[in-house]
Amino acid sequence: MADIDFRKVGGRIGAEVVGLDVRDLDDALFAEVNAALLEHKALIFRGQHLDDAGQVEFAARFGPLTGAHPTVPSVEGQPQILEVNGDEGIRANNWHTDVTFVRTPPKASTLRGIIVPPYGGNTLIANSVTAYDDLPEPLREFADKAWAVHTNDYDYVQPQFETSAREEHRKVFTAKRYRTAHPVVRVHPETGERGLFIGGFAQTIVGLSNRESRAILDLLQHYVTRPENIFRVQWEPGDLVLFDNRATQHYAPDDYGDLPRHLRRVTIAGDVPVGIEGKESFILEGDEARHYTPA
Ligand code: SIN
Repeated sequence: MADIDFRKVGGRIGAEVVGLDVRDLDDALFAEVNAALLEHKALIFRGQHLDDAGQVEFAARFGPLTGAHPTVPSVEGQPQILEVNGDEGIRANNWHTDVTFVRTPPKASTLRGIIVPPYGGNTLIANSVTAYDDLPEPLREFADKAWAVHTNDYDYVQPQFETSAREEHRKVFTAKRYRTAHPVVRVHPETGERGLFIGGFAQTIVGLSNRESRAILDLLQHYVTRPENIFRVQWEPGDLVLFDNRATQHYAPDDYGDLPRHLRRVTIAGDVPVGIEGKESFILEGDEARHYTPA
């Protein structure tokens, strides 16, 4: 059996998996990697150089896969793969957890680096469990009871950064509108840990005005994005990154100008989030989008 090592890259989040070719993931190694994912929230496997089939096969070890995205088309002929291509003007420079606007957001995401810029173009991944732990008691008491409405339909690109490619992407992204209420504090189904479950798609707090919601979401989000909670992935071509969407948010800084950056994403289906009182998330608008399979 391979002798693998999980080297922490930060005190609160992230580990590099050393000594593993993910093509050789037998059941015992898989159990180690899965336990490390739960512990470290985000893992990087350097120099794997997987192809599409290899990425799909790796991701499928963690459970059934979702389609590429509820509204954005997949890579041609690869229904589970989403293109992440900076050339097309699609830059995820907004803190978010993938696809939280549906009732069953993916439990984990894999990203594979194909072409990466020589500098910049990192992916930042934040630990939303330590963010929750850091909340002062009065804020925690508020968050424990709060629910947020997540939607894919909001102005996530500031007007000064709008381009025709981004406008086109937004049209596709919102071709079908989703609104889902999720608990602000989600209980992780495997670890039982509590984490702040908000991010960019969370636009309002149930029962509060837009202005009040913004202030509260910004305040809570500030705890998620504290530098001590963040793992900064500095990509090399061939790297593979895996992160637990039930305990993280991520952000891709748009700091690489016209340099090419090309990743591919495959996500693993998740379950319905549950709050600390055991209540499940519920749909306000849109369909179930379960694993994003067309009805
Ligand atoms: C994403 O949000 O899935 C893409 C992240 C990235 O571009 O690094």
